[in-house]
Amino acid sequence: MLPDLSERFDGLERMDRSDCDEAHLYRTLAQFRYVNLVVSRYRYCLKRWIVADMLRDRSSRYHLVDLGAGGCDIPAWLLRHCQRRSLKLRVTAVDSNARTVAWARERYGDIPDLNIVCGSAFEIGDLGDVDYVYANHFLHHLPRIEIVRLLHVIQAVVRRKFLVCDLVRSRFSYVGFSLLAGPLLRDSFAFEDGQISIRRGFTLGEFQHLIDDSDIRGRCQIFQMFPGRLAMVGGSVLGDLPADPN
Ligand SMILES: C[S@@+](CC[C@H](N)C(=O)[O-])C[C@H]1O[C@@H](n2cnc3c(N)ncnc32)[C@H](O)[C@@H]1O
Repeated sequence: MLPDLSERFDGLERMDRSDCDEAHLYRTLAQFRYVNLVVSRYRYCLKRWIVADMLRDRSSRYHLVDLGAGGCDIPAWLLRHCQRRSLKLRVTAVDSNARTVAWARERYGDIPDLNIVCGSAFEIGDLGDVDYVYANHFLHHLPRIEIVRLLHVIQAVVRRKFLVCDLVRSRFSYVGFSLLAGPLLRDSFAFEDGQISIRRGFTLGEFQHLIDDSDIRGRCQIFQMFPGRLAMVGGSVLGDLPADPN
């Protein structure tokens, strides 16, 4: 049955419960890697808005912070991609869940220039100079009031660009995900949390209001992409942003 999607759902995802089953949590992180590959469009977004910016000056060293980095499959890919292009990037991947951080370190801890830390996204100011901030599927974990505060903090810290990608809350997304992912995502929280994530996602208008309330209007643009994706791109180097990539 279709839940009420008129407002953001405020129930917790199962992976966010401190007492959640560890084996299920680890399988969830492993399966999110494939969910990201199929629906997140993270490669497209990072190439378009972050890597393209780095390519303007290949000689500089850059620091990107990935907030709510989860299993770290995305920063691992980004570092490989940048290495192939001789771009000098280091990534700090931040996640507040100690078990998730341990799992990510086990998988990706030996990647040079990837520092996986356990901490709160709100402490980004303690991470030194930050050129880029990235977050995928993280914003919807937070209540609205914290999102507004976080966007404010990001804007204050970031030296070049931030890219925040999240989910559209819509019937299309919910039904599409439920039909396609149901048979595939087993023995984990990925299916149930995926549905909750969409219910905690945003409409285009709500994304716009978040920007207005965070006082970053004029320094930020929003893009809606298939399938059910929203991207918020902002920072201090907005001048040449491309038109809507759809
Ligand atoms: C759905 S996962 C997304 C993981 C990853 N970005 C991806 O796209 O696969 C969201 C992550 O945010 C983390 N998280 C939740 N609240 C946080 C906070 N306040 N600070 C840092 N991480 C947080 C959770 O532990 C979880 O691993």
